[in-house]
Amino acid sequence: MKQQVLILVAVVEVAILIVWGISRKSFKGYFQEQVKSRDTTRPKPTRHDFSIECPADHFAIYIRSGFANVIGPTIGFDGKSVMSPVKNNVRHGLNIAVFDGENGSVENTFYTQNSAQLLIFLQSLRPGLIFLAASFDDVTAPLTDEVRKLFVGMGSTLINSVNHRDGWVFAGSTGTRMKSVFEKQSVNDEKTNVYDGWPVSLEVEGCLPRLTADGSSRVTETSAGS
Ligand SMILES: *[C@@H]1O[C@H](CO)[C@@H](O)[C@H](O)[C@H]1NC(C)=O
Repeated sequence: MKQQVLILVAVVEVAILIVWGISRKSFKGYFQEQVKSRDTTRPKPTRHDFSIECPADHFAIYIRSGFANVIGPTIGFDGKSVMSPVKNNVRHGLNIAVFDGENGSVENTFYTQNSAQLLIFLQSLRPGLIFLAASFDDVTAPLTDEVRKLFVGMGSTLINSVNHRDGWVFAGSTGTRMKSVFEKQSVNDEKTNVYDGWPVSLEVEGCLPRLTADGSSRVTETSAGS
């Protein structure tokens, strides 16, 4: 019964998001977008498919954390869904997608609740990658101090305060030493939780600068020079 209520709440929330997403664009713009998109026969279920417009040398990103322990997270990149419940490549725990920072191709998708697995995965990452992560249910099991330090190295400023069943979404990069501006945390607190035992689901979207092969940001370099 509780599960059914949670699913209902999640469905309503997704519906509100879709309506909000549509209303943000003019209806004319919305329909033009529908006509332009390659596959007009299938409905567009989540908002990351309405990819936001980004300046040249940027990638559009979209991250939504899981709804309680019921509906998994979604990660979108450059207008495409990369990880989602529909694609069946998300699981409880930490969900991660990494991309080549220069050409935007998907390097890997990964999920785990195991700290040893996560450590090996993080240590295998080369510089110059865009790193997107989303929580589902609880992410703290694999978050050892060593792992949290590696997230700080990718630009996280909130990871050290992420606790049991907190929501967390994060976009960072390897080898850049840039602080992330795309990171959110929702705190598991009985007084503010919207689900029975979990805080609200989080969403971030924005435009991430393309990286050069050595992991530096083209955009930062050009704007610093002008
Ligand atoms: C993107 O760059 C990576 C690393 O250099 C390379 O392995 C991959 O094949 C490239 N992808 C495309 C589509 O060019």
